[in-house]
Amino acid sequence: MARKLRIGIVGLGGVGAVHLEAYRDHPRIEVVAGAELDATRLRDLAAKHRFNPYADFRRMLAEETLDLVCVATTVATHEEVTIACVQAGKPVLCEKPIAGTVEAAKRMIAAAAAAGVPLFYGATYRFLPAVRRARELIQSGAIGKVLLMREQEVGGTGPEGRHLMGFAHYPKGTPGGSGFGLVDHGIHLIDLFGWFAASPVESVFGRGNLSGETAATEYLLMNFQSGALGHLLYEDATFSTNLPGEGLFSWGSAWTLQGYVPPGQWQAAPGSIHVHGDQGALRIFHYANQLFLTDKDGTRQIALEGRHAPGHFAAQMEACAATILDGAPAAVTGEDGLAALEVLMAAYRSFKEKKVACIR
Ligand SMILES: NC(=O)c1ccc[n+]([C@@H]2O[C@H](COP(=O)([O-])OP(=O)(O)OC[C@H]3O[C@@H](n4cnc5c(N)ncnc54)[C@H](O)[C@@H]3O)[C@@H](O)[C@H]2O)c1
Repeated sequence: MARKLRIGIVGLGGVGAVHLEAYRDHPRIEVVAGAELDATRLRDLAAKHRFNPYADFRRMLAEETLDLVCVATTVATHEEVTIACVQAGKPVLCEKPIAGTVEAAKRMIAAAAAAGVPLFYGATYRFLPAVRRARELIQSGAIGKVLLMREQEVGGTGPEGRHLMGFAHYPKGTPGGSGFGLVDHGIHLIDLFGWFAASPVESVFGRGNLSGETAATEYLLMNFQSGALGHLLYEDATFSTNLPGEGLFSWGSAWTLQGYVPPGQWQAAPGSIHVHGDQGALRIFHYANQLFLTDKDGTRQIALEGRHAPGHFAAQMEACAATILDGAPAAVTGEDGLAALEVLMAAYRSFKEKKVACIR
């Protein structure tokens, strides 16, 4: 068997712990070290997952032999941590969004290129089994030409329930806000819609919140070069209009408006993505791990393969291992992270200028 990918993780907060779970007993991935500022959390996770703990990630870089560093720190620190890692000669997988500004993302990409090491981007949704299968179906022509892609997350428990990410992720006054807003969540879908449509975004209109400022419903309309439309709509400070009895059994774990839920739960309003083509349509329950195809022959459920959430983090890291250890092309790069960020930032421009914003 090929050797394991030796990785270190910087940032062992909410998602860092999920990465650790996903890599547990993995035949190809070994977490040898982790760095975290919270001493108690570091100690507990290191004891549970048996890796070498570091309070200072720079010491980890100096002392450990690593094939890759996974950057799962607060968004505002992605640039500093990623650049330090690539300059130490380590390939990096950086969590989404790649950075808080387009300029920072460009500096990260330039630093990795100058150091001659890959910079992978954490477009984790691309590794969910329902999403992967949906893309295969789209590519095989199962729904014809893609016309419209949409996702909405609307619900919550009123204004107090808004899940604010805080200034450590998004400094006061910069784009960001809720964990179910355009920046922190919508960035996944911006990437995915381009991947589904196999086409770049040409122009957008949208509205996003600024961290620490009065929040409003967020939305984004994306006009793709292919003619397809992408639509995102987010509001987590109201209440759901779902009726009792609506819902689905979720096979995978999920980030929901109620927080992170473990696998195998009933969900009243499971997250889903809609893709409409001129020959059919797909309903993708990305975390619940279910996929439905509707066309002129009716609606049927599509069988899925691969590990559901949080296993998609392992699938993502397997793709990094294939590049680093086997020389396969990178599945998702820093440029993909930059492209999604440019679309996102154009939404803020469009709202300010009260007109459709062109990309680049
Ligand atoms: N791919 C996904 O599905 C997904 C899901 C959730 C979060 N995320 C992303 O993961 C990243 C982390 O999010 P989170 O929810 O885990 O945040 P979090 O605030 O729970 O955790 C971040 C951790 O990073 C640590 N940290 C900050 N600077 C550090 C440094 N210099 N050295 C070591 N540790 C440091 C903090 O102490 C904290 O524990 C963000 O970019 C977020 O957008 C991705």
